[in-house]
Amino acid sequence: MSDAPLIDIRNATIYRGETRVFENLDLTIEQHEPAAILGPNGSGKTTLLKVINRELYPVHHEGSRVRILGRETWNVWELRSHIGIVSHDIHARYQDKTNGLSVVVSGYLSSVGIHGSLASRISPLQVRRAKEIMADLGIESLQKTPLRKMSTGQQRRCLLGRALVHDPDTLILDEPTAGLDFAASFDYLARIRKLARSGKNIVLVTHLLNEIPPEIDRVILLRAGRIVADGTKDEVLTEAYLRQTYDTDIRVAKIDGYFLAYPPNPDSMAEN
Ligand SMILES: Nc1ncnc2c1ncn2[C@@H]1O[C@H](COP(=O)(O)OP(=O)(O)OP(=O)(O)O)[C@@H](O)[C@H]1O
Ligand SMILES: [Mg+2]
Repeated sequence: MSDAPLIDIRNATIYRGETRVFENLDLTIEQHEPAAILGPNGSGKTTLLKVINRELYPVHHEGSRVRILGRETWNVWELRSHIGIVSHDIHARYQDKTNGLSVVVSGYLSSVGIHGSLASRISPLQVRRAKEIMADLGIESLQKTPLRKMSTGQQRRCLLGRALVHDPDTLILDEPTAGLDFAASFDYLARIRKLARSGKNIVLVTHLLNEIPPEIDRVILLRAGRIVADGTKDEVLTEAYLRQTYDTDIRVAKIDGYFLAYPPNPDSMAEN
């Protein structure tokens, strides 16, 4: 497994309910290859992450394969120690009354919260580790605070803590800063950068070019289940590829190593 790619997808067809999201998809992401996935709403980003996370399986057919860390099949418990995930789906499954520590500790069980008999399956060592992670993330004071009394940024940090309990090699983040203000999203991104520098691989789905940190150089553009472009930021984040991906004119600027997208000036469009 050590050298196997994080994901190795060949000729895969993937459905979400009745919708065929991917057909003949080929994609490889190596284990220590940070990557960002961008694309319009509905283009298949979350679906792809669910495939990596083994929440969704491709349709079986001749000549097709989806291997995660070299294997076609995984049990979810085992996979969680390799891949941590932060997503809206997971966030939305929590009840408002669940407190911060329960959110983080629930990562050990891949459950949503710690209710009833689940509590007995958590060891004191695991609780201690969860508290340490909360301290690292600056949320130790939220151990007993219910989610409903936290800001979105605080909730999102608890979810990050949940993903970190197994100390996974890879973190998969599906729009982790959606709904956060500047301070909260910059803080979150700084934490992600720190995790990337400490050796964790990051696979990030985002709608904002400026959220792709310098540690991530590979960008994959998706449009309606197809890969429009796949390469370095400089190769992929061009006005031509973004227009092709989003069906709209997008200007791109590069400042201090970050990319920014902004709309074209309507006056200059009228002249064209
Ligand atoms: N539970 C579901 N059942 C059926 N179809 C679904 C389901 N969830 C998503 N889809 C469809 O699958 C396609 C891909 O959705 P997906 O969530 O992967 O898009 P996305 O790129 O993550 O979009 P967004 O930017 O809005 O998060 C869309 O056409 C969507 O309508
Ligand atoms: Mg999505």
